[in-house]
Amino acid sequence: MPEIVVCADRGTLSERAARRVVTAATTAIGARGGFAIALAGGSTPGPLYRELADAPHRDAIDWSRIHVFWGDERCVPPDHEESNYRMARETLLDAVPIPGRRIHRIHGEEPDPEYAADLYEREIHRTLASPPRETPRLDLVLLGLGSDGHTASLFPESPALEADDRLVVAVKASEPRIQPPVVERITLTPRALNAADETLFLVVGEEKAPAVRAVLEGPREPRRWPAQAVRPEAGRTTWMLDAAAASELSGIPGPVRGGTT
Ligand code: 6PG
Repeated sequence: MPEIVVCADRGTLSERAARRVVTAATTAIGARGGFAIALAGGSTPGPLYRELADAPHRDAIDWSRIHVFWGDERCVPPDHEESNYRMARETLLDAVPIPGRRIHRIHGEEPDPEYAADLYEREIHRTLASPPRETPRLDLVLLGLGSDGHTASLFPESPALEADDRLVVAVKASEPRIQPPVVERITLTPRALNAADETLFLVVGEEKAPAVRAVLEGPREPRRWPAQAVRPEAGRTTWMLDAAAASELSGIPGPVRGGTT
């Protein structure tokens, strides 16, 4: 069962999530000399990235030992306003001393998204030094949740949900239920996400409450609620929710106000 943490508000959630990232990074670096994180896109993680870009969290991480990936990307250039890479660069990466060669963005600008997906899959294998047959293990994957239950760019009824032979796939704009604007995307697959040591969902806002309830308390239907496809075999999954996003859950402890991780 995933751990569910309800925070009083978005600020508390971002601060608590920042502490969770710092703990995961320092533990992995201490144990294995490095830390590989996949960032989430969308609007929710921005405040978390700003927390990590500032003291004390920025100074608690050895950025020279970090590899940064993305869980998904829109098929746009890296300076496009829709780019998940641009959002992370502006809120975090430009403010921390991480070597450029350790920032592994998805090349959404490639004219052929399938080629870009293949490139990224090879970069993940190469960076995490995993043989082609093996599934590379990210240390931490940050994820959001769409009001339709999607996560990363795994949308309801998408063939990407069954891509068990791949780590990264392209998501066609012609697929059903892609949220507007209708932009093609590239996403990590459930296989890649479920190999992670830890997955951390960050969800805020009342408009997400029905999807949160369906994913966490509803029947298991990952094709309809893709976030249910994220169930790391050996990893730890945590859902960090603000009170509004958690408002339709039954039997959840009261919101956390500040406090420790
Ligand atoms: C993206 C994200 C996507 C996002 C959800 C929630 O590229 O948009 O990967 O899965 O996390 O759509 O988006 P918000 O945080 O903007 O609500």
